[in-house]
Amino acid sequence: MKPKVYITRKIPSSIVEKIENTCDVEMWQEENIPVPKEVIENKIQEIDGLFCLLTESIDENLLERANNLKVISNMAVGYNNIDIEAAKRKGITVTNTPGILTDTTADLTFALLMATARRLVESSDYLQKGEWDTWSPMQLTGQDIHGATLGIIGMGRIGEAVAKRALGFDMKVIYHNRSRKSDIEENLHITFVEMDELLKSSDFLCILTPYTKETHHLISKDELSIMKNTAVLINTARGGIVDEQALYQALVNKDIWAAGLDVFEEEPIPVTHPLLSLQNVVSLPHIGSASVKTRLKMCEVAAENLTRGLNNEKPKHVVI
Ligand code: DGY
Repeated sequence: MKPKVYITRKIPSSIVEKIENTCDVEMWQEENIPVPKEVIENKIQEIDGLFCLLTESIDENLLERANNLKVISNMAVGYNNIDIEAAKRKGITVTNTPGILTDTTADLTFALLMATARRLVESSDYLQKGEWDTWSPMQLTGQDIHGATLGIIGMGRIGEAVAKRALGFDMKVIYHNRSRKSDIEENLHITFVEMDELLKSSDFLCILTPYTKETHHLISKDELSIMKNTAVLINTARGGIVDEQALYQALVNKDIWAAGLDVFEEEPIPVTHPLLSLQNVVSLPHIGSASVKTRLKMCEVAAENLTRGLNNEKPKHVVI
């Protein structure tokens, strides 16, 4: 008998077919509507493998219901949506998709940095609304990117890829990470600094660290108050790393200059959220890895992780 698999969102049929070579597959048939929790609660009782997205919370209560589950394959590099400890206790393998989305996410991070610094969205709206009456000396002026100091929190794969891009813009790059990355420091001529120094010295502060208990609200009122009032905060990691209420206040009080956000504490962020009312916020709907090639590759790798795990081969990307 083939192992039973549930896929929590409609994915391309070419990839479903590959999974079907070795598994019995059932799939939620909607592409833009998340699967209801009750459906997963039901399915999880009988399946051997789960292919899920970051939109599904795979918590302890849900895992308690799993009788045969052997592999959870998350189609994302981040896995904060899964209770890893609970999965470990039940002997379930959890896999993710690292590496594949590094450059695509670094591209988006840099695009967001540039859009926020040079007020691209606001300027485009200004023109479209018919407000462009004349050219004037200080009209829609932003912050220079070239020559500025970029501070990176989290020097993993994406941090390194963003640093490389910054060097092409003649930026000075400093970073903070749990451990020092001497090889990257040497290769890219970037400098490790303590967190306070990073906050104080950065013209642009990019958050590229995983979301864990330790990084929850890592950037809050105190940290924002240390930053330059010309600084731009960019978050393409996870929303929960920034205390959004504190960020809103800092932006309103002009403690910092602007923020570019691809991720939010609650996703989708309600359109009535105060942050979205600010002109100095550029907001995107979690599209860091959203290129056609990268999303297809993420699907493919997640499928391969799943089928390998269910067919007694070690998956290539195991979290636990
Ligand atoms: C991830 O993979 O964790 C991103 O947030 C989505 O691609």
